[in-house]
Amino acid sequence: VDVATRPPTLSDDGRTIVTGTPQVPRTTSNAGIPVESDEHSLTVGPDGPILLQDHYLIEKMAQFNRERVPERVVHAKGSGAYGVFEVTNDVSQFTKADLFQPGKRTGMLARFSTVAGEQGSPDSWRDPRGFALKFYTEQGNYDMVGNNTPVFFVRDPTKFQDFIRSQKRTADSGLRDHDMQWDFWTLSPESAHMVTWLMGDRGIPKSYRYMNGYSSHTYMWVNAGGEKFWVKYHFKTDQGVDFLTQDEADELAGTDGDAHRRDLFEAIKRGEHPSWTLKVQIMPFEDAPGYRFNPFDLTKVWPHGDYPLIEVGRMRLDENPEDYFVHIEQAAFEPSNLVPGIGPSPDKMLLGRLFSYPDTHRYRIGPNYAQLPPNRPRAQVNSYAKDGPMRYTPAHVSRPYAPNSYGGPAADVRSYGDPAGWRAAGEMVREAYALHRDDDDFGQAGTLVRTVLDDTQRERLVANVSGHLGDGVTRPVLDRALQYWRHVDKALGDRIAAAVDSE
Ligand code: NDP
Ligand code: HEM
Repeated sequence: VDVATRPPTLSDDGRTIVTGTPQVPRTTSNAGIPVESDEHSLTVGPDGPILLQDHYLIEKMAQFNRERVPERVVHAKGSGAYGVFEVTNDVSQFTKADLFQPGKRTGMLARFSTVAGEQGSPDSWRDPRGFALKFYTEQGNYDMVGNNTPVFFVRDPTKFQDFIRSQKRTADSGLRDHDMQWDFWTLSPESAHMVTWLMGDRGIPKSYRYMNGYSSHTYMWVNAGGEKFWVKYHFKTDQGVDFLTQDEADELAGTDGDAHRRDLFEAIKRGEHPSWTLKVQIMPFEDAPGYRFNPFDLTKVWPHGDYPLIEVGRMRLDENPEDYFVHIEQAAFEPSNLVPGIGPSPDKMLLGRLFSYPDTHRYRIGPNYAQLPPNRPRAQVNSYAKDGPMRYTPAHVSRPYAPNSYGGPAADVRSYGDPAGWRAAGEMVREAYALHRDDDDFGQAGTLVRTVLDDTQRERLVANVSGHLGDGVTRPVLDRALQYWRHVDKALGDRIAAAVDSE
């Protein structure tokens, strides 16, 4: 009944649309009531005042005014898709987590992002990329919220807010400011490894399909026998790592700011489903105290020579979101979504993040964000959460408290198995991690420069750093930056200094 019968055409004089297409449904209000016009508000005569009783016009205006939720305070610009994770190797000796058991296939959602820019910022700015995954496992949602970098800029969560502010915009001009970025980095020497990584080729991936993802943090795995291991995740792109030079990225920022979002969406639409192979490094639980690096320090990697990569499985993205806002903007990833068999580690950054994400989701989307399509677990939910704005899943029990005698859910530590924890005791302190033998801020950055990069990569690193420093970094920050690079590698620092001088 509510289907129009003619295709839309322009009237003979070309001034009005004659509506109606076969199979196209009639417009309705949000309440499902057919509306009279998509084009004309209700007026008293063609030139008369608009009537308050045009509830459809009012609904359109009011709804539009409320169309935005706050953008993510970091990682605002992103892209995402659904897919499947499939286990290809037996790692059950290390974890009992359901999604990593042999032969298992688990549905998942991925969101990739830049960090410092806003929703409309160009995809090709030099920045780490977020690599956030949500696995809809039989034991509840497991979120692996990583980056395309194996390390990070700081190692204590109390420095995260300062770090992010230094990368965003100044308070007075509202401009991004390289002087401010280098001021923070050079006064936080633990950033050297990550900054070296960022200024290298991998600091601007060719697109999201051509980058690796890392847990960056160390996590704990627990097997069915209760044995514990430390683990780091590496999602290696099956498309091959590829990058943009600074010049290519600058040009793309001006011609197609959404290039990486477009690339992911169109590749999936064409049926070219990107995939990543998950490999892990496993450290026996008891190795941690004696390891040469602090294994929980987020500014360090575990060299592959110490802990080789072990294949686990492959994730493939094969389904674009039907609605970007519903599925990607409202996606709420949280490192605190850990399932039995996977736990946190003493990494202070990770422990800080466990609080931060659910908190920001309650603010950004609302307290019932977990009920929305991208966040809704496929496992049964038996929580005691109740009420709140926009709640639509009814409570599971009429007597919503525990313990109760009327069939309400009951937690049982024995059915959960061994919790992922470790022994902790000591005085309360505000101190950096205890040092391990090879812990220092510049060593691994120097290894990257000297042993991983080749001559042309080092040349581009020099050009990227000197170009960045040449764009608004002034003394004394500039002097400190040159000193910082000489600590990373003396020869590299000298070359950067010479390049800055000649600009
Ligand atoms: P390896 O030679 O075993 O590994 C070197 C690693 O560097 C590989 O993971 C490689 O990734 C990655 N890589 C290659 N080119 C670049 C680049 N331009 N920018 C950043 N990373 C790159 O050495 P080690 O494990 O002993 O580590 C040496 C250094 O390599 C570390 O100090 C660290 O800076 C860097 N690195 C180490 C990682 C680790 O987890 N051990 C991970 C990433 C970097 P791929 O094989 O995917 O190309
Ligand atoms: C997003 C906080 C460190 C990866 C966010 C958001 C916050 C946040 C508040 C916005 C989330 C949202 O609105 O949905 C923090 C804090 C950190 C920290 C407090 C340190 C203490 C890290 C690290 C990584 C990381 C070390 C990677 C290893 C991400 C990713 C997103 C994100 C990928 C985007 C998630 C998405 O796609 O929705 N972070 N972060 N963060 N963070 Fe962090």
